[in-house]
Amino acid sequence: MRAKFLQLIVLSVLIFSGLAQAETPAPTSTDLAPRLLQMLDYVGVDYGPTVRQGRVVNAVEYAEMEEFSGEILNLLKAMPASPDKASLLQVANTISAAVEQRLPGERVSQLTAELKNDLIRSYTIVVAPQALPDMSSVDSLFASNCASCHGAEGRGDGPLAQTLEPAPSNFHDIARQHSRSVHDLYNTISLGVPGTSMRSFSHLSDDQRWALAMMVSRFSGSDLQRKKGEQLWQQGQLHDQFTSIADLTSISYARAGELALSAGLTAGDGEAVLVYLRSAPEVLEVSNNEAIDSSIAKLAESVAYARAGNTRAAHTAALSAYLDGFELAEPSVVVLDKSLKLKIEKAMIEFRELARSNNVDALAAKQTEAVDLLNQAKRVLDSGSMSGGAAFTGSFIILLREGVEAILVLAAIMAALIKTGRRDAIKYIHAGWIGAVVLGVITWWVAENLISISGASRELTEGVAALVAAAILIYVGFWLHNASHSQRWKQFVEQKVTNAMEGSTLWVLALVSFIAVYREMFETVLFYQAMWVQVDAGSEHSFIMGIVAAIALLVVISFLVYRLGVKLPIRQFFQINAILLFVLAVVFAGQGVARLQEVGMVGASHFSFPRIEMLGIYPTEQTLGLQLVVLIIGAGLMLYQRRSS
Ligand code: HEC
Repeated sequence: MRAKFLQLIVLSVLIFSGLAQAETPAPTSTDLAPRLLQMLDYVGVDYGPTVRQGRVVNAVEYAEMEEFSGEILNLLKAMPASPDKASLLQVANTISAAVEQRLPGERVSQLTAELKNDLIRSYTIVVAPQALPDMSSVDSLFASNCASCHGAEGRGDGPLAQTLEPAPSNFHDIARQHSRSVHDLYNTISLGVPGTSMRSFSHLSDDQRWALAMMVSRFSGSDLQRKKGEQLWQQGQLHDQFTSIADLTSISYARAGELALSAGLTAGDGEAVLVYLRSAPEVLEVSNNEAIDSSIAKLAESVAYARAGNTRAAHTAALSAYLDGFELAEPSVVVLDKSLKLKIEKAMIEFRELARSNNVDALAAKQTEAVDLLNQAKRVLDSGSMSGGAAFTGSFIILLREGVEAILVLAAIMAALIKTGRRDAIKYIHAGWIGAVVLGVITWWVAENLISISGASRELTEGVAALVAAAILIYVGFWLHNASHSQRWKQFVEQKVTNAMEGSTLWVLALVSFIAVYREMFETVLFYQAMWVQVDAGSEHSFIMGIVAAIALLVVISFLVYRLGVKLPIRQFFQINAILLFVLAVVFAGQGVARLQEVGMVGASHFSFPRIEMLGIYPTEQTLGLQLVVLIIGAGLMLYQRRSS
């Protein structure tokens, strides 16, 4: 008995720690695009110094630039078909010709910047991190990986620098950083520079590479610029030019200067604003509208890939359309219009399934449908805050729905303990749920202040927690059912009441109560957080009353369930209780698989069947399949026990 409990705990700890490390699928456009952008970046920066007034001054470097501009053409030719491809190729040809004719460096930089922008737009290449990079440990990351060459301050004077040819870059070198965006730096950190000691750091996580790129980009700005930039930003300058993280990571000083000039400021002002934003990227965090726009762009990208016959890339883009787009806005949409959220989710799942097949027409039709729904979501979000009535029902229903499941589990187990004369063990149940509530409050604080819990990590956490809860409930149900046979029952009481209950058993009780409650807290917290943004002074009162009313009703329900439990004849009580827990396990199993389907970790084969989210019923083979397995296990265990007793 004890060994089994321990196994169970170890298993759940393993699952949870694995979950913390799981990485989200990377949205790759193609493998060619980053290399192509890097080549353009290099020609833009390095060509200039190789010529002066139409004459070559550095033959070796110049030859390299000729080679690179040819490589740009080749890479571009290998990119998938797109409506703009012909005009992109034309620009690439112009670049190559400009290099041959030894035109001035500025002209070539202009052309490479133009082609880069066009490429990013027409292939919707992702030039921004999925979320703001976590800068908390970037200093030590730089010290241990980069300082040996680039120097502790990024001046290119690390202990190894002397021995290297070419020398490591000095990140304070303004001339060189002038046309580099954060994305260019990220690209170089990811790919390395072939033929130099700058190797690829692709073994670092995506987030770490973005954090390093952001850090490196800060070396080239001064405190004076930062202060000036902050002032300008607070006066509302350049807000239309810098609207998103993607703008921040794709704009160089050169481009920021141009943007500022066309907005009637000086180039220096533009650079100052960029310095400021690089030091405080959080002021640009994604809005819901941007998230939805990015979904729309990714859907288009996916269809373009499907047209070009690249099914894999089409599917990746389809997944990214959900995870890096609508998913981020989902919590806000759900509180305003739940059925719309469901429709969008369904359309996105169907789109992903179609993206796997070769049916381009059906895919394009589904795209139209999804885009319509997404635009509808934008209108719903624009219409803004909630009415008092909606705030009350919203906060009431969310807590009630999430709370009932948890209460059923807790009340059932508590009643069971009372009946077995184990009142003393109830404190473990209390410890579990109180711990979960405390952690729920911490989760809320973290989500509010430190990181945004959204996208894949959220779905994954919810999914795994639901599956773990299902597994534990099967176990506890089995245990209760076991106790429901009179003979065993006597033994059970004698054994358990006379001996103190084993320590590990008690901790499993605490664990059950913890997981049952935390799972619901996690979802409730994220929903409330999204709702709170839409609540204004007028509806605040209703919002809070909704929570209070839900808590009151939950207390009544738990009291009733508990009383009913204690009143029932003992044997019946255990049987009903066991069945209740098995049913909840079936519900949780369905919900868990559905979450994992949303992150694309489990496939989703649809067929026509009702969809009742509250009961964990979704019309897919995978969800219903696992539920069937859980049902069979439950029924099997009960029959087996009946036989053997
Ligand atoms: C073994 C030495 C070495 C190490 C370690 C190293 N680099 Fe480099 N790095 C170089 C060299 C050399 C170059 C110049 C390549 C060239 O001339 O194009 C370079 C260039 C770069 C560039 C391009 C900058 C520009 O504007 O030209 C970036 C960005 C960069 N390194 C970042 C990093 C980061 C971040 C790390 C740590 C994760 C790192 N490097 C570790 C040697 C190194």
